[in-house]
Amino acid sequence: MNILEGKRILVGVTGGIAAYKTAFLVRELVRRGAEVRVVMTPAATRFVGPTTFAALSHSDVVTGMFPASAGGGSTWHITLGAWADAMIIAPATANTIAKIATGFADNALTTLVLALRCPLVVAPAMDADMYRHPAMQENLETLRRRGAIVVPPEEGELASGLTGPGRLPDIETLCAAIEEAVYPGSRDLEGVPVLVTAGPTFERIDPVRFIGNHSSGKMGFAIAADAARRGARVTLVAGPVHLPTPRGVTRVDVTSAAEMFDAVAVRCDAARVIVMSAAVADFRPEQPAAGKIKKESAPEGLTLRLALTTDILAYLGERKRGQVLVGFALETEDGEENARRKLERKHADIIILNNPAVEGAGFGSDTNVVTLYFADGSSEELGLLPKPEIARIILDRVVHLLPQALA
Ligand code: CTP
Repeated sequence: MNILEGKRILVGVTGGIAAYKTAFLVRELVRRGAEVRVVMTPAATRFVGPTTFAALSHSDVVTGMFPASAGGGSTWHITLGAWADAMIIAPATANTIAKIATGFADNALTTLVLALRCPLVVAPAMDADMYRHPAMQENLETLRRRGAIVVPPEEGELASGLTGPGRLPDIETLCAAIEEAVYPGSRDLEGVPVLVTAGPTFERIDPVRFIGNHSSGKMGFAIAADAARRGARVTLVAGPVHLPTPRGVTRVDVTSAAEMFDAVAVRCDAARVIVMSAAVADFRPEQPAAGKIKKESAPEGLTLRLALTTDILAYLGERKRGQVLVGFALETEDGEENARRKLERKHADIIILNNPAVEGAGFGSDTNVVTLYFADGSSEELGLLPKPEIARIILDRVVHLLPQALA
């Protein structure tokens, strides 16, 4: 489940010591489900062998102007240039940056750059003095002006022994720049405080037993991850799930509906966007037992009395001031009617309806089939999509509603 799933990414490698780090970048892109093709300059092959990149990308690597994989043909660059969703050059040496700023086409990589139809990301890595040189800075400015995303190098110890700007940034930063290239203009929640809940809640019966549900938390985590990528300040209140915390997200772990309510209640006024994707339990055992309930204590079977939990979304709807409030509805029948009723009753701006009975939808799955219902009465049906893609569409709609919410 990743935003780069199925995206076609060209990775250009030039001759710098940081080229070995690009092997990890390629591995990460493949892990995220991207299709990757690697193009190397002749100098790059002196640092890392093409075989390494071929193995990691599961594809032939282009190192020369007449690659064998293209049957020695001469139009491969046109094909690859049209094929890709984005290209990253990492590391980008001073020499290659100068060439692409000028429009040279003297090797496979520079030729391909001229034939690109997709956004370009450039990650310079070199010695600090070379990086600071006015020629270098002017070349980078030229690339930026033409729309390239330049990922600034990090400060630190350099291969030369000097300290300064010049280090290739970490893999996460490079991936974030590629995501930005694939979905441009997407830092549209810069600085906006966003509160997301995700996962199930567990309601205690006794110290070893609980009532829970099958929510995996994937939808909520995908929303938190996408909000963070758009620049939001994201707090994720997570029920008991085993998912890694998305980059740039502050996570608060809770177990029960009551704990989730407390965690949300103290944070909700500061949030501008609240997405309640958690599958909060509607009922909890009224009187959890202090010790483990023994079988002998209930020879006729056990009756549990359940009390209602606080409806967090309804609570948020009551006190909403200038916020965009998003809720979910899980319905097995009368979906539309129930979703519209929830929208109204809980004063939400969007209710996302999903039916777990539909193929490819629901808990645990990496995909979902949902319909969005809006407070103005409109609705939007989304087909079968990966959860990160659904997260992106939900946040697109939230961004659209934000100015109205404030007014
Ligand atoms: N929700 C909540 N607090 C609860 C229960 C649910 O905030 N105690 C939120 C969920 O996070 C979700 C929405 O309410 O965004 C819908 O939850 P759901 O259980 O489907 O709806 P209910 O209002 O509980 O209605 P019903 O049980 O009749 O379906």
